Amino acid sequence: MAIPSPRSRILITRAIFPEVAQRLSEHFDVESNTADDDWSAEEIASRLQDKTGALTFGLERITEPLLARCPSLKICANMTVGYNNFDLDAMSAAGVLGTNAPDVLTETTADFGFALLMATARRVTESEHFLRAGKWTRWNYEMFSGAEVHGSTLGIIGMGRIGQAIARRAAFGFGMQVMYHNRSRLGAATEADCRASYVSKQELLQTADHVLLVVPYSKESHHTIGAAELALMKPTATLINIARGGIVDDAALAVALRDKRIAAAGLDVFEGEPQVHPDLLAVPNVVLTPHIASATAGTRRAMAMLAVDNLIGYLVHSKAVTPLNAA
Ligand code: DGY
Repeated sequence: MAIPSPRSRILITRAIFPEVAQRLSEHFDVESNTADDDWSAEEIASRLQDKTGALTFGLERITEPLLARCPSLKICANMTVGYNNFDLDAMSAAGVLGTNAPDVLTETTADFGFALLMATARRVTESEHFLRAGKWTRWNYEMFSGAEVHGSTLGIIGMGRIGQAIARRAAFGFGMQVMYHNRSRLGAATEADCRASYVSKQELLQTADHVLLVVPYSKESHHTIGAAELALMKPTATLINIARGGIVDDAALAVALRDKRIAAAGLDVFEGEPQVHPDLLAVPNVVLTPHIASATAGTRRAMAMLAVDNLIGYLVHSKAVTPLNAA
């Protein structure tokens, strides 16, 4: 009688929709952090030691020392589009595939980028706090006067799928002039589709009324916006970051906001999150949200299911859907 080969073991490092573990358990033995405990890096490493695959959330550092402790590991499937938690060179060297979850969150994240831009320009949260604090005693013509959005100039740094989706909303929905800066210039057809023109980073910072960041995090993009860049922006401009913590120098931004070097900022991501720089918490002209740009039930489910498809695709059918490296 043939002895059945043991089932692959999968670790899910955080709480996620129950149907995710259910689908995975049709193929694998699954260990799941259903209680959403705050596992340390050491705890994740020790739980991963006997696993073949992991469903990860863009937060777990998959590094050479960790990989050396996990000889059976074959795949880490992020349910996020960002993958700066992966050391892809070390993963390739160890024969471990990394996958991410692109496309399924593009439009939802673009919606949120626009929501944050609108809330920041039109001072939505600041005025709500004022009202809730019982400070609204009479109407005044310049009360919470904000920045124009329609017809203004939007500068997008990082023109991937999400940047392009935001550009289309801006150009076609709000009649904005859209300029962008990117590592490489887009083709003419894509530029026309987004009605966006390519400019240098310096021109973008000096010209845009609203600067929106959607660039992936890497050593090269660390502090894309620091004191020098903030000094180039118009004093009436706003800065929106839906990219990653570390793309903006948060300490420098807090100074620029405090000194009114720029008018306002909207931030969904932070250096060292979930910690937020205390100086940002102290200034009123910033809208702060806890990394929720892709947070709708439908999109988060689609992101998780794409990670599941990657795990099943690779471990059962030898073909991942959205691979990032050659393993
Ligand atoms: C991503 O997918 O990278 C987002 O930042 C997570 O919500």
